[in-house]
Amino acid sequence: MRLDKLLSSLGEGTRSEVRALIRAGRVRVREETARDAGMQVDAERDSVTLDGRELGYKSVRHVMLNKPGGVLTAARDARQRTVMDLLPPLYAAMGAMPAGRLDKDTEGLLVITSDGQLAHRIISPRHDVGKEYFARVDGPLGEADVRAFEEGLHISDADGEFDARSAVLTILRASQTESEARVRVTEGKYHQVKRMFAARGVRVTYLKRLSIGALRLDPALAPGQWREMTQEEAALLEQDAPPEEDEQEDKHA
Ligand code: URA
Repeated sequence: MRLDKLLSSLGEGTRSEVRALIRAGRVRVREETARDAGMQVDAERDSVTLDGRELGYKSVRHVMLNKPGGVLTAARDARQRTVMDLLPPLYAAMGAMPAGRLDKDTEGLLVITSDGQLAHRIISPRHDVGKEYFARVDGPLGEADVRAFEEGLHISDADGEFDARSAVLTILRASQTESEARVRVTEGKYHQVKRMFAARGVRVTYLKRLSIGALRLDPALAPGQWREMTQEEAALLEQDAPPEEDEQEDKHA
């Protein structure tokens, strides 16, 4: 692949922006400063760095996306825009997938990773990875709601029935017509948060995921923006959702 194409497909800028980076001597390929935007590079094998940051070969990539409303959380869809359409095609080509699902109208932190096992562990109820949301609802919230969330709500609605695990509700602002709260849950049933509030008689009008375990959404990312996660951020996910024993054995084999 051409060097300028690789850099722009990794999200480093438009073709003309990345050519300017190359002209400025900021890009190195195979340990040497690159001068030719059209040089051929092997994205899977060559070391490519920008300002010393390794961009080229990486067997695993983790992305943090601030999911905007109006986009489906799915690997692909015949008709509707998906979160994968917000990323350069390199990620889909590597088999990256969203770790969990946010509703079409929900915004906020979504991890997209090429490590399928990690994606699975983040969403598995076995690991109890807490997810925190900011919610705006169309009615009052009070201490009775905090207690009901803590005790574990019984959900029974058109989508089915289940006993929700204990959740932490923190009220930020409350009035008869509109309230705002943070809620921390450790499971991810279909429309979980919306159904929990509905069970208390209010409707969610805006929902945004703030964190997954210890990983927080970077406040510098506007809705629709993304970046690769740092090693420290990836380590937070690994800590919160460590490999099962048999997976660890596989890794060491
Ligand atoms: N709970 C919901 O109801 N919707 C989401 O998108 C995430 C959690």
